[in-house]
Order: sequence, then structure tokens, then C-alpha cells
Amino acid sequence: MEIKDKTGNIFDFRRLNKADALALGIYFESLSHETKCKFGPHALTQDSAHKICQFEKDPAHRFIAVTKSGIIVAYIILEFGMIDHEKHRYRNYGIKLEEGKDLFFAPSVLDDYQNAGLASAIFNELIPYAKNIGALSLVLLGGTQETNQLALAFYAKFGFQPLGGYQTDVYNIDMRLVL
Ligand SMILES: CC(C)(COP(=O)(O)OP(=O)(O)OC[C@H]1O[C@@H](n2cnc3c(N)ncnc32)[C@H](O)[C@@H]1OP(=O)(O)O)[C@@H](O)C(=O)NCCC(=O)NCCS
Repeated sequence: MEIKDKTGNIFDFRRLNKADALALGIYFESLSHETKCKFGPHALTQDSAHKICQFEKDPAHRFIAVTKSGIIVAYIILEFGMIDHEKHRYRNYGIKLEEGKDLFFAPSVLDDYQNAGLASAIFNELIPYAKNIGALSLVLLGGTQETNQLALAFYAKFGFQPLGGYQTDVYNIDMRLVL
């Protein structure tokens, strides 16, 4: 399907497929150090892109936004598998996450395309998609760094609720959207 950012640029928004490996690797390797510090669900390399695109039974639904010239500018993960350390943190908030119903969500946008409404346009499509497949909530994978003001504003706009936080080398805020 087609989506538009705030300036009217049009992108194709669709599920990732096997033929996207090279373009996805270029996307990963084009992300700035700053963006990679905020988005790290897995290795962001060409090799990782090839492995992801070859998964036969991927426990995640992966989406991309692509320019008319074929450049991937956004990569979004909806993870259906249970992740133990997330499950344990949420248990401490009094929330029992259910595998395949409470989906882990991790979005990323290429640096030059950030803060232009692209993830917002994507999210307007992803929420009905997640509801249609029976999801109960979207859980921010790993939370978001306390200093990531853009991401915090983005999640708050869509109704994600902060539940608590935890320390790694930075402080991270756990957020969840009940659908
Ligand atoms: C977080 C991310 C996915 C959001 O995607 P995006 O396309 O840039 O987001 P959008 O442009 O749709 O929305 C950003 C919102 O934040 C607001 N915003 C931007 N900078 C802000 C700031 N410093 N303080 C508060 N709000 C801010 C914008 O105004 C916009 O809100 P609006 O639509 O109400 O005006 C993307 O910026 C990204 O990939 N960042 C780096 C990696 C990352 O942080 N991933 C998420 C990890 S939790």
C-alpha cells in the first residue's frame, strides 16, 4: 500500500520479503551511529539482513517503507515470540504478557527521513493490522531510552503508556499500547 509523509512524499509500505535482502542490508549499514544506539533489536549488518530475509518460519512480521526508486527508508518489527527478559520486567509491573497476543514492536526510520511523519503514517496502518490479527497490545521492545525525546513524543501521541523503567548503560522507559 502507499503511504505519505508530512511533506507529501509517497512510499510503498509492505511486508519484507526474500528479495529485499540487499536493500535491507544497505538500510542497516546506512543508519547513523546515533540511530543504531537507539535501535538495536539485532545486528544491523548485510549478513544479518540476508539471514532475516531467508527465515522460513520468522516469529516476527517485518515491514518496510520503500521509495519509488527502491530505497528502504523504514524497517519495523512486530515480534510474536515471547522474550523472557521482557516478560519478567512486565510481570514486575503486574502485567502478564501473552505470547502471540502481546506483540513486541520496534520501529526505525532512516536518519534523513526521521521527524517527517513517516512512522506516524506507518503506525496508522499497523494499528488496524495488529488488531485484525488478534493482537491485544503492542509492547515497545526493550523500552525507549529516557533521552530519546522524539520517540517518547511519538509513542505518547499514539497512546502508549509508560509503565516503569530499567537501567542498562542508559535508563530505558517501558511503554505499552493496549489495542
Ligand atoms: C523513533 C522513530 C521510529 C519515529 O519515526 P519518525 O518518522 O521520525 O516519527 P514521526 O515524524 O512520525 O513523529 C515524530 C513526532 O515527534 C515529535 N518530536 C520530534 N522531536 C521532538 C522532540 N525533541 N521533543 C518532543 N517531540 C518531538 C514530532 O513533532 C512528531 O510529532 P507530531 O507528528 O505530533 O508533530 C524514528 O525517529 C527513528 O527511527 N529514530 C531513531 C531510532 C529510534 O529511536 N527507534 C525507536 C527506538 S524505541
